[in-house]
Amino acid sequence: MSMRTLTVGLGSRSYPIHIGPGLLGQADLFAPHLQSGRAVVVTNTTVGPLYADAVERALDACGTRHFRIEIPDGEAEKRWETLDRVFGSLLRAQADRRTVIVALGGGVVGDLAGFAAATYQRGVPFIQVPTTLLAQVDSSVGGKTGVNHPLGKNMIGAFHQPLAVIADTATLDTLPDRELAAGLAEVIKYGAIRDLAFFDWLETNVGRLRARDPDALAKAISRSCEIKAEIVALDEREAGPRALLNLGHTFGHAIETLEGYGTWLHGEAVAAGMVMAARLSARLGRAPEADASRLEALLRRAGLPVEPPELEVDAWLDAMGRDKKNESGRITLILLDRLGAAAVEKNAPARALEDFLAGR
Ligand code: NAD
Ligand code: GLY
Repeated sequence: MSMRTLTVGLGSRSYPIHIGPGLLGQADLFAPHLQSGRAVVVTNTTVGPLYADAVERALDACGTRHFRIEIPDGEAEKRWETLDRVFGSLLRAQADRRTVIVALGGGVVGDLAGFAAATYQRGVPFIQVPTTLLAQVDSSVGGKTGVNHPLGKNMIGAFHQPLAVIADTATLDTLPDRELAAGLAEVIKYGAIRDLAFFDWLETNVGRLRARDPDALAKAISRSCEIKAEIVALDEREAGPRALLNLGHTFGHAIETLEGYGTWLHGEAVAAGMVMAARLSARLGRAPEADASRLEALLRRAGLPVEPPELEVDAWLDAMGRDKKNESGRITLILLDRLGAAAVEKNAPARALEDFLAGR
């Protein structure tokens, strides 16, 4: 299988997404972005021992001096205190403004290291090297970086685009099944919001994906990145259509926050949240109930939870009331019009939402 390269088209800040097996060690992919001759690999205690040596060998081959920062593993580490420790390590090593941060890991490492890159010495360059399915199809692309706050998911952050995304699909061989399924939630999201033919393909191929068939995974990653790159190029800072990428996330982020970060994986919370969004869309007369059922069935077959946890309506509304898409105190939702087409709804009837959350 060969490498595929897509582009996120953002004018002078455009960048490549390289997708394929065995890319971690390919110095020629890193070299164009390492002119300063200095880099830091930010990773975690699980991914570092597996893959940092390969990346560091590629950096050596580029003649780049480098050091490594390993943070503890887990969604609960995506927080201010961990970020502050990364700043301390950068300062102790005298990292300067041209030092390139290489984020090696899943979405937690990518978001936190990306935010460090956005803010350290007012901004340094960075490269995303995603090693989970979720990070390869979603979080490494598009420049959203940040950390969680105890009161809300991803509440502190910045837009900061990487210089390149290098997605080595061979790293998925070591990913636990539960994490692979969490990544499939975001893959299914792209079909649901934008591409019915891709959704159909996922219905046919979900078994191959769960069995890690390399061709099926390559197709799912490429199509997901194509859709994400297209939307990000249209609306980098989420003034409009980028919000569609948040299908299920208003509910999902509330689940993650209320249940405690890491209890539900992000992809799991998004899966249950997408079913909620689809069922609410049907109740509001926007989407056919049959489409909500199809989405639920596919997510179930992907090994994902499709029922939310039991939470008080006030807790839901309080958490959802802090969502970043909200305006003028009103909760913005992403709803389905049909499978393959979603819409931003800024005026969902509050009473209908409350009734829905209360199970009425
Ligand atoms: P994660 O980063 O926690 O990684 C999941 C687990 O897999 C971790 O234990 C990690 O150490 C391990 N791991 C990573 N790569 C591995 C490999 N190749 N082999 C074995 N183990 C490996 O979780 P995630 O699902 O990658 O990312 C979730 C995060 O991404 C959430 O914080 C979410 O908010 C964020 N996110 C951000 C965006 C964005 O646009 N920035 C989009 C979607 C999600
Ligand atoms: N994952 C949502 C976004 O990147 O906009």
